[in-house]
Amino acid sequence: MLLEGKVGIVTGVGMGMGEAVAKRWAREGSRVIGTDVNDEAGQAAIETINAAGGEAYYIHADVASEDDWQAISAYAINELGGLHILHNNAAVHYWFDSINDPMEKWDQMMAINLRGVLLGCRYAIRHMITAGGGSIVNTSSVSALHGVPLQGLYGSTKAGVINLTRSLARAYGPQGVRVNAICPGAIDTPMLHAAAAEAAELYSNENGPTGSQGGSGPSLDGGRLGSPEEIANVVTFLVSEEASYVSGVFLPVDGAMMA
Ligand SMILES: NC(=O)c1ccc[n+]([C@@H]2O[C@H](COP(=O)([O-])OP(=O)(O)OC[C@H]3O[C@@H](n4cnc5c(N)ncnc54)[C@H](O)[C@@H]3O)[C@@H](O)[C@H]2O)c1
Repeated sequence: MLLEGKVGIVTGVGMGMGEAVAKRWAREGSRVIGTDVNDEAGQAAIETINAAGGEAYYIHADVASEDDWQAISAYAINELGGLHILHNNAAVHYWFDSINDPMEKWDQMMAINLRGVLLGCRYAIRHMITAGGGSIVNTSSVSALHGVPLQGLYGSTKAGVINLTRSLARAYGPQGVRVNAICPGAIDTPMLHAAAAEAAELYSNENGPTGSQGGSGPSLDGGRLGSPEEIANVVTFLVSEEASYVSGVFLPVDGAMMA
């Protein structure tokens, strides 16, 4: 097993990629703390892990809340004996009209998608330094790697995640902390389907946004969507000792969308 003896935190465990990662980590021998703001979905995911013989704990936590990060990192360290691996997965997506939408939308998404990742890294790295090391995977997006008309906000949060990841990797590599990012492409999760439905509605409106929403799509296997489990494979590899010399990368997992 790749993660025997580890204690890990996965944010946004209730569905999609976070759920798949938590399940995989538990199968690889890690004890997992899963967090979410959707308690029903989060608790259900954790119950499935425990019913399958894993050891997982659900804690309500908003990634944008510093108090919540304090509580979950303290739980990991004091109750489970450490914090070895962290997956900053949780984020929100909505389309954003950069010149007309209210700035509150900008502040809200920045707080969750970027500030939330920084908070997780801060609490984890402070402990990992004293513990002699650890490994973090942050979730960026292909939206960080190119321009999309209504993703000036989402893409900026995800581009921020990449630079934060690289900076932290260089800053804390000397103390044994590895920090990597993944850039998922089109992955079959509730977020993708909600975003696609919302975009179709926006673009069907004659007063809707200008500019093409399209760009390149996935290429692999006739352009199919990726699965959450295919993301979990990569995240698990990156946090494990199999990737002991990999730090500071931002890895597209996108079926050649950005190739
Ligand atoms: N689905 C895609 O195609 C795609 C592509 C590129 C990147 N991503 C990124 O991958 C990650 C996972 O996305 P997904 O598609 O599985 O999303 P999802 O919406 O299907 O699931 C996200 C989970 O995070 C939780 N969450 C939302 N806000 C939270 C908060 N403030 N605190 C804690 N939990 C919160 C939600 O309740 C939900 O359970 C996100 O960072 C997303 O931006 C997704």
